[in-house]
Amino acid sequence: MFPTDRPRRLRTTPALRRLVAETDVRPRHLVLPVFVAEGLDAPKPISSMPGVVQHTRETLRKAAAEAAGAGLGGIMLFGVPAHHDATGSGALDPDGILNVGLREVREEVGDALPVMADTCLDEFTDHGHCGVLAADGSVDNDATLEVYADMAVAQAEAGAHVVAPSGMMDGQVGRIREALDASGHADTAILAYSAKYASAFYGPFREAVDSQLTGDRRTYQQDPANAREALRETTLDLAEGADMVMVKPAMGYLDVLRSVAEVSEVPVAAYQVSGEYAMISAAAERGWIDRERTILETITGIRRAGADIVLTYWASELAGRLDR
Ligand code: PBG
Repeated sequence: MFPTDRPRRLRTTPALRRLVAETDVRPRHLVLPVFVAEGLDAPKPISSMPGVVQHTRETLRKAAAEAAGAGLGGIMLFGVPAHHDATGSGALDPDGILNVGLREVREEVGDALPVMADTCLDEFTDHGHCGVLAADGSVDNDATLEVYADMAVAQAEAGAHVVAPSGMMDGQVGRIREALDASGHADTAILAYSAKYASAFYGPFREAVDSQLTGDRRTYQQDPANAREALRETTLDLAEGADMVMVKPAMGYLDVLRSVAEVSEVPVAAYQVSGEYAMISAAAERGWIDRERTILETITGIRRAGADIVLTYWASELAGRLDR
């Protein structure tokens, strides 16, 4: 062994380790996903996501103010309507819960915190699919694009800085870009869920949004077996005008995240999804892992793999423990 072969030298003190850290997590890297439900008088806990709730309009405002105060990178809103129908019309209604939530959050935070909207129909349809159905029951790609276009415009009008199409319909980014530009919203950005997999890790989210889905989303979300396909999806979204791209879930797809980050010319986000949250929460509750260290380690790993931005339900909590 040569005297130079001592990597441990740089690990001897916390200050040295800080000096040579290759990756950091700061509040600005984190986006908080939040749920706002119609017709609640008090926030409703989500049992499979301890600590996460369906917000009322009032508590949503508070959560947004807190997120801004914590210096987060953004807040992502999901709506939980009281009524569902076949075309998800509540998503287009300016008085629908998601658009009302967006308006109120924007009023609360102004431009201090980027306000993002989930642009997808699954929370609003009575069948729970991310799009509208054709006569044979399949999800109709092109008919869905027209609804997404109107939904994105409604969200921009409600005050979203960023719309985030998450339905994995082909052509969704291009169609939404066209609709935003044509309606005077050229500055509204698109965060494209480019590589979104048909994942079991979305389980708790289905409770979070009172999902009506029976069956699965495998005809539109990606097969977990495929990595190369994620690059194709990303390339298409970039060509259609995506301002940011996303890989989802995060922890099981770090290889995909890395390769998307290598080719992307725009910022890359990763979504640490509900099942990742639930899994760590459950193990920590049993005392099997150290909750706070595990949270930071997973998000550091997601950043290390190439994410500029991490969506995580721990965003506000974690920000309180991080340097600005
Ligand atoms: C669809 C959507 C889902 C999630 C975010 N957007 C659910 C799905 O595709 O089934 C999952 C997020 C999570 O699990 O935390 N609008």
